Formats: sequence, C-alpha cells, structure tokens
Amino acid sequence: MALIVLAADKGAPGVTTAATALAAVWPRPVLLAECDPAGGDLAYRLPAADGGVINPAKGLLSLGAIARRGLEPAQIHEHTQKIVGGLDILAGLMHGEQAAGLTWLWGPLGRSLAAIQNADVIADCGRLGTYPQIGDLLAEADITVLLTRASLDHVAHLRERLSITKAQGVVVIADPRTYRSGIDDVRRVVGPTVTFVHGLAHDPKGAELLRGQWGGRLDRSLLIRTARDLARKLA
Ligand SMILES: Nc1ncnc2c1ncn2[C@@H]1O[C@H](COP(=O)(O)OP(=O)(O)OP(=O)(O)O)[C@@H](O)[C@H]1O
Ligand SMILES: [Mg+2]
Repeated sequence: MALIVLAADKGAPGVTTAATALAAVWPRPVLLAECDPAGGDLAYRLPAADGGVINPAKGLLSLGAIARRGLEPAQIHEHTQKIVGGLDILAGLMHGEQAAGLTWLWGPLGRSLAAIQNADVIADCGRLGTYPQIGDLLAEADITVLLTRASLDHVAHLRERLSITKAQGVVVIADPRTYRSGIDDVRRVVGPTVTFVHGLAHDPKGAELLRGQWGGRLDRSLLIRTARDLARKLA
C-alpha cells in the first residue's frame, strides 16, 4: 500500500507527535515506522499493548542486523510490536550513533515499507539534513510531507528545504486561535512548490494526552480532531 513520510527541516515542530496522532486515527490498516536516524521516541513515550515497555531492540535495530543481504517486505512484520491501543509500530534506533553503521539500510527499508501489502506505512523520518542517507528512503515514498511551525524562522527554513527536497505537502502545526490564517500564510510563502498545505492544531494538552492511554479527552482534543481531518485528506 502507500508509504507516507513525515519529516522536518530544523527544530522539533512535532513530527513524532503528528505521526503518532495520524497513525492512531488512520482510516486503513497502518504501520507506524520510526525511521528517524537520530533515534526513536515511542519506547519512552508509550507502553506496549500488554502494559509493559516497548522493546527498543526489536525494530529498526533488529531489522538492520538481518537485512544486509536483502530485505523482503514480509520480513518487516517479524520486527514490529503492538503498542497500547493495538497500533503496530516499527521501533526506532536507540540513539543516533547506531545510524552510522546503517547508512546502507534506508533505501532497502524504503522499498520494503512501500511494498507492504496489507497496510499503509507512516514513516517518521525526523529532521532532514543531518543524515543525508535518509534521502534514499524518501525516494521510495508515495507522499512526503514536511512539518513546520507557523513562525517566520521555521517557514524560512522550510522554504530552503523545499528547494532541495521534493515533497508533495506541508503540514503547519498551527495555533488554533489563528488556524486558517496561519496555514494561509505558509501557503503563500511556499507557493506552488508543494501540492497541498494542511494544518494540525498546536495543542499542548492533546500532545501530552497522546503519551498515555486513549480516552475521551484525547479523542475530543483539537490535536486528534485535526489529525482526523488530515488523515482523511492524506489517505
Ligand atoms: N501539535 C502539537 N501541539 C502542541 N505541542 C506539540 C505538538 N506536537 C509536538 N508537541 C510538543 O513538542 C515537543 C516535540 O514534539 P515531537 O517529539 O513530536 O517533535 P519532533 O519534531 O519529532 O522532534 P525531534 O526532531 O526531536 O524528534 C514535545 O514536547 C511535544 O509534546
Ligand atoms: Mg521526533
């Protein structure tokens, strides 16, 4: 099915939070893949489905250990885990140093993720620029979405990034009080370099709730309501 890459240029606009929220409300079967070469965060943020901890050694790291001689899409599921709520994840690296030995992995991983038969894949690729080899994974994506905050410095970096990285869309983490105008401002700056500019609410409470069990407050949060809207558009 489809490989959807989420990434950012500078700062920490909320890529991991957006990827988690989108995967949680995705309208089709989905795998959330932590492909940030700087390391994953989910193992520290969310419990496993059985209430225990996510095993950080089972995921990208274990996949990297067996994939040198070739990687088939069917092998990916041997390295995934279920987190609270039943979402399938491919846990990320434990720290950025591990990426140094895995520079060859991103191309084969991207090809396999894009070829998974029974699920879409939302891949959190972190900040672009620090690990150029992640570009090999982006090259396999059906859709690449860059996230940004609406502030001038973030948007200026985003515009530079779009001149060197091909992306179909931009998602603005926008203040709910100026939601539409914030998104429109970014749309004006990035112009026709992307096909779409959508929004996701800046919602600190929702982002905090997303680190625990699913509940009514999270379900009604602005973060999740705007994530549902975004998921529909992307899917
Ligand atoms: N939509 C949002 N509304 C409010 N706060 C948010 C939102 N998204 C993320 N945050 C907060 O911003 C911080 C960084 O979020 P997150 O880890 O998702 O960013 P990131 O872009 O993945 O960063 P990194 O590049 O370090 O992995 C966290 O404290 C998170 O709670
Ligand atoms: Mg992140």
